[in-house]
Amino acid sequence: MVMAQNVVVVGSQWGDEGKGKIVDWLAEQCDGVVRFQGGHNAGHTLVVGGKKTILRLIPSGILHETLDCYIGSGVVVSPEALLGEIDELDAAGVKNVAGRLKIAPTCPLILPYHIALDQAREASKGEGKIGTTGRGIGPAYEDKVARRSVRAGDLRDMALVAEKVRANLALYNVQLEHLHGAAPLEFDSVMAVIESFRARILPMLADVSRTLYDKIQNGERLLFEGAQGTLLDIDCGTYPFVTSSNCVAGAASAGAGVPPQALDYVLGIVKAYTTRVGSGPFPTELFDKVGAGLAKRGHEFGSVTGRARRCGWFDAAALKRAIQINGISGMCITKLDVMDGIDEIKLCVGYTLPDGSTTNILPFGAHEVSGCTPIYETLPGWKESTVGAKSYDALPENACRYLQRIEEVCGAPIAIVSTGPDRDETILIRHPFEA
Ligand code: GDP
Ligand code: IMO
Ligand code: MG
Repeated sequence: MVMAQNVVVVGSQWGDEGKGKIVDWLAEQCDGVVRFQGGHNAGHTLVVGGKKTILRLIPSGILHETLDCYIGSGVVVSPEALLGEIDELDAAGVKNVAGRLKIAPTCPLILPYHIALDQAREASKGEGKIGTTGRGIGPAYEDKVARRSVRAGDLRDMALVAEKVRANLALYNVQLEHLHGAAPLEFDSVMAVIESFRARILPMLADVSRTLYDKIQNGERLLFEGAQGTLLDIDCGTYPFVTSSNCVAGAASAGAGVPPQALDYVLGIVKAYTTRVGSGPFPTELFDKVGAGLAKRGHEFGSVTGRARRCGWFDAAALKRAIQINGISGMCITKLDVMDGIDEIKLCVGYTLPDGSTTNILPFGAHEVSGCTPIYETLPGWKESTVGAKSYDALPENACRYLQRIEEVCGAPIAIVSTGPDRDETILIRHPFEA
């Protein structure tokens, strides 16, 4: 048996697939959990013994009390959000959170002007808005590629920070005032915010890339935790209705600073139906009582913004694209229990395109995806409850049939099935670390 030393967990749809739950569950078996992209636009929910924890920036291994967690260079860090999250975990009794968290000094910081611009732009766009989380993610990544970010390591040199903030405010205040009619930000108030978090952030800075490399050389196991999902990826998703980072497995290498050869196994997290929050095309979206039922049973409200998530049938043609781009070694199907009690289940296996031709894989880009009309197969549903099932044999026959059909159509094996939000409500088929 070949052992996978390091596992990358990615979202395979439009986010909120249940990555946090599965990373927390897998973290039991590993020596470090690493976030490599995104920011506090993520909301990863962990439930242990009925107690719920929502993580935004801190890797979902933090509840394992001796495990170190890493934030790699590809993550845009809001120090205020991070410290708030540390305080929440401390208050909940989680041990030594700040001491176990290492942040790459190369992480771009999210500062108040990013948030102001994200929100002002969305407000100006009205109907055409992206539906961002309003957390400043897009503007922070713009600064990164424009080579003007204040990075975490810059906090060691406040003269450098002041110089960058002054230059960035000159740019942002023009946009805020003259393009969006929003209030400009004062230099002194931005610097005061930075001073307020600086002393707590500095001790967490570490050469994450080097530490991870050493751990890999020592044969330790790492878990790379993706945020968002493949269809929200800046290159591969439904552009422009996407986030501003690469969310695919390959991004783990650049975003954590580890060699691509270290990524042994890619676990694609896949919800047993489809959801999307924010604007953008969604071919299998449901507007009927079946969709409303999924939303209700699945509690499909965003963990970051509280927005209602749009719900629809499982889209195997979209998943085929995610499998192709990420090189998914195995899938984890989550929220199977939410499909209980549906008479007939539809599975999208391809699309009819505007010219009448058909395809079995999701095209790239919002314009192309909005022209896709789903082609469905119908499968029988099941009446029995799968809530909390812990073995494959305990699943109803038609639930197994549904899972097998997903495997056949998508061409990747199922490694794990999740039947409830709690850590224990998990069916293991093939362990990713022992694949
Ligand atoms: P993430 O962003 O991918 O980590 O997913 P979220 O945490 O945003 O959303 C997933 C939601 O579904 C959370 O409320 C989880 O507690 C919940 N959840 C995860 N797995 C299951 C499952 O198998 N069944 C049910 N009913 N809920 C689940
Ligand atoms: P997790 O990690 C679901 C969506 C937003 C919006 C688009 C751009 O919990 O799965 P942004 O604020 O990133 O510029 O918003 O991306 N989005 C998510 N949707 N889950 C997420 O994260 C998301 N992070 C961003 O709703 O449509
Ligand atoms: Mg989420």
